[in-house]
Amino acid sequence: MNEHANPQNLSERADALEERMMHELGERIATRSTLFNIADGKVEMPSGPALKAANPDKYFLMGADPRLPKMPAKPTLIDFFNNRFASLNHLLQSATHALKGGHSEKVVLACLLHDIGVASFIRCDHGYWGAQMIEPYVDEEVSWAVRTHQALRFFPDPAVGYEYPKMYIDYFGADYKPEPYIVAEYERARKHKYYMTSRLICVNDIYSFDPDAKVDLNDFVDIIGRNFRQPEEGLGFDNSPSAHMWRTLMWPTRFL
Ligand SMILES: [Fe+2]
Ligand SMILES: [Fe+2]
Repeated sequence: MNEHANPQNLSERADALEERMMHELGERIATRSTLFNIADGKVEMPSGPALKAANPDKYFLMGADPRLPKMPAKPTLIDFFNNRFASLNHLLQSATHALKGGHSEKVVLACLLHDIGVASFIRCDHGYWGAQMIEPYVDEEVSWAVRTHQALRFFPDPAVGYEYPKMYIDYFGADYKPEPYIVAEYERARKHKYYMTSRLICVNDIYSFDPDAKVDLNDFVDIIGRNFRQPEEGLGFDNSPSAHMWRTLMWPTRFL
């Protein structure tokens, strides 16, 4: 059956599922932020009074969501890898490729973290989101490279063997042109001292989509230890400029 034929049923089903999930949380009401609904094409959010009226005996969730893997009190980057990043294979393959290529630890770390924006948060402008998340904890070369791969990936650099990915023609169409802000980012990046670090993310990236490749996060624990300043208080509790992003990942359904 064409599921687009009857949108009413679809949205009713979604509401029923949401209702059921809410009940599975027991005493607490988990709320969906506007962004979650926008992703479903609805610019709306559940109002506090309406949710409370429908669940008069419950309080809103203001901490951990029991449907999600439990996070420790002082979470590390590895804990986020294991409990909040939806897909590790691509990141691990990319970093493994960089490691085998004999690149510096900064490049390997940049490859390992380059798509955490996608893996944890949001696809749109993922390079910018990912860079912001890690900025307080890594060398500026690493966060710069992660931010800028967002733009560089759309522009070939034959000198290092990077062509426009064929996959993008499949994904976006042959006539896709990056927006002016991406072109401007690329132009700035070409003249930057860290250009090659970001370019190496792209070079290691395109070889990294083999679902059967053997990869292991343990191979990178030492590199993370040497190059990612894990805050003692735990990621999210260290009052850094991006601590709130890590907390949001930890508690995505808190009411406030
Ligand atoms: Fe990316
Ligand atoms: Fe990637």
